[in-house]
Amino acid sequence: MKHIILVAALAAASVGLAETIKLPAPDKDSGVSVIQALKGRHSERAFCGKDIPVELLSGVLWAANGFNRPDKRTNATALNLQTITVYVCMKSGAYRYDAKANELVKVCDKDLRPAIAAHQPYAAAAPVSLLITADVSGPAYKDKRSTLTHYDAGIVSGNIYLYCAANGLVTVCRGSMDRDALKKALNLGDKIILHLNHPVGYPLETKK
Ligand SMILES: Cc1cc2nc3c(=O)[nH]c(=O)nc-3n(C[C@H](O)[C@H](O)[C@H](O)COP(=O)(O)O)c2cc1C
Repeated sequence: MKHIILVAALAAASVGLAETIKLPAPDKDSGVSVIQALKGRHSERAFCGKDIPVELLSGVLWAANGFNRPDKRTNATALNLQTITVYVCMKSGAYRYDAKANELVKVCDKDLRPAIAAHQPYAAAAPVSLLITADVSGPAYKDKRSTLTHYDAGIVSGNIYLYCAANGLVTVCRGSMDRDALKKALNLGDKIILHLNHPVGYPLETKK
């Protein structure tokens, strides 16, 4: 794996809302076996703050809800509606993960990690927080079927845990966050549900 760190990629990109970060192709041969990842999966709440390589950011996003077939994803999704969108919150701002283009599209200039952390400040120490959202504006979500997206979000969360466990990263699935602040900052309407978030980084004891 190349040691290009995320901060370098961001420094190379132009500043401002138009900024789009092209991610490297995810390495689909990285990590330990699924069994080993299941053995190591756990929630971690102490992050060292060190940036993660952009290759690993690309990998964890692909694992979360990237495309593993031309039109289908790494996560199962009820009725194949594919309503999940993952946002990436970092010091430099917040970005929407465009899985098809393998890009991060900037949607906010502010560091939203404190709003993600809300009443649990430990979460703001992670260099990256992934926000799992669902769009329930489509006609399929009439009659309270939007609950289906809760299950989709849970599967995305499981994928993030396993990728992290397989690739030396740590994370925790969180339902806590300041949803009002995040919705406002990300300009998300009533039909977007903020389900879960995942601070992702290296554990506190990592010195590398
Ligand atoms: C839907 C869901 C919401 C959670 N919300 C939080 C949270 O807001 N804050 C937190 O610190 N952990 C949260 N957790 C993590 C759980 O506390 C954790 O999974 C549990 O203690 C078991 O530990 P383990 O993941 O290491 O097995 C959440 C987990 C799930 C599945």
